[in-house]
Amino acid sequence: MTFSVLSPKQKIIFKWCYNSDKTAIICDGAVRSGKTVCMITSFILWAMKCFNGGIFGICGKTVRSVERNIISPLMDIADINAYFKVNYLRSRNLLTVENCGVKNSFYIFGGRDESSYMLIQGITLSGVLFDEVALMPRSFVEQAITRTLSVENAKLWFNCNPDNQFHWFYNEWIKKADEKNALHLHFLMSDNPILTKKQLENAERQFTGVFHDRYIKGLWISAEGVIYKDFADNTERYILDKFPDDIIQCNIGFDFGGNGSAHAGICTGFSKRLQKVIILEEFYLKEIVSPARLESEIINFVRKCQSRFPVFDGYFDSAETTLIKGLKTAFAKERMSFNIHNARKSPITDRISFTNLIMSQGRFFIMKNCRHVIEAFRSAVWDSKSPCDKRLDDGNYNIDSLDAFEYSIEPMINDLIES
Ligand SMILES: Nc1ncnc2c1ncn2[C@@H]1O[C@H](COP(=O)(O)OP(=O)(O)OP(=O)(O)O)[C@@H](O)[C@H]1O
Ligand SMILES: [Mg+2]
Repeated sequence: MTFSVLSPKQKIIFKWCYNSDKTAIICDGAVRSGKTVCMITSFILWAMKCFNGGIFGICGKTVRSVERNIISPLMDIADINAYFKVNYLRSRNLLTVENCGVKNSFYIFGGRDESSYMLIQGITLSGVLFDEVALMPRSFVEQAITRTLSVENAKLWFNCNPDNQFHWFYNEWIKKADEKNALHLHFLMSDNPILTKKQLENAERQFTGVFHDRYIKGLWISAEGVIYKDFADNTERYILDKFPDDIIQCNIGFDFGGNGSAHAGICTGFSKRLQKVIILEEFYLKEIVSPARLESEIINFVRKCQSRFPVFDGYFDSAETTLIKGLKTAFAKERMSFNIHNARKSPITDRISFTNLIMSQGRFFIMKNCRHVIEAFRSAVWDSKSPCDKRLDDGNYNIDSLDAFEYSIEPMINDLIES
């Protein structure tokens, strides 16, 4: 890609580091508004102009997400590759940039990767770019900032999409930008000069509820009210009464109950080219039962699902290690071909925003007979008193079926987004 045109805010990103005494820049706001691509380009131009032999940090949620969102696109930016020799050594998570005897090193760190946390502790950095800073643990960000304190003229670059209004980055950096000597720029999608009106409209349709307020309007706002608003208002659009005939793969997700919560299982099917996600069967048991009874109920459920659909993998609540162990033995005894995995349990907002996305794309359905999970989706609400995004779980809501559904789709999320 080339920067044939820059929006006014993007121009500011390119200029601030040379002619201002500010030590940091913060770009927050809407998705796809052109923050990352300009920040990484100007970060490298600045490093190459002001340092030789310098060591820098490029931080993202994980090392892999930096490779995907920053390093790969960077290799494609003509304005960088025309002037510099850029090389990425994956085994060392190291990007080097060279030109006429000037060479700088950029190490990649993932805020959520434990190994990155250890590595960053010993290093001195002349500048750090934090991509998606709101998704990194505060301790990691603060550690990385500390690594720059001994370098004169070191600068910090932050970008993110908004989160809850109680988020530490909003309160400590955005609200206190002046105090921190940081330049703050707030982006809307219209600040990306290459997006057409149609692309803007399409992007808008991808988000509903609080995600629309945050990712489209760029607001730092807490999550309140009904979580799956369109599902609650137009439930019939999501319900199927005949099993689809193009299911190519299924997963089962399972959340173990206890303390008043139910044992819930969901069998989710994926259609050809992963176009549709359909909840096909559900398991729901809200009683106290012995482990042996639970095992046999689960075996019956899996058997029922396998008699209709290609389902060979189950993702189970990883907190319950003894129950999982018992189940593995029970399935082996029955000689059933069914692989038991620990559920990934990724952050709740990631799971919810993904479900909202497939709902708004018209790719999500539930079989009519799965009444517990239908009711769970209709009634789920945000916990407005929580300082971070959380579903209200006061015993009156069926969170268990939702967890089980999410465990069943988590391993497929990247493939489903790309399909
Ligand atoms: N001035 C520009 N010229 C050409 N392409 C651009 C320009 N600005 C942005 N883009 C392109 O627009 C897309 C979105 O930009 P970018 O990824 O930087 O947005 P972002 O604000 O970081 O989004 P998100 O918040 O979703 O991470 C990218 O494909 C990028 O290459
Ligand atoms: Mg970005």
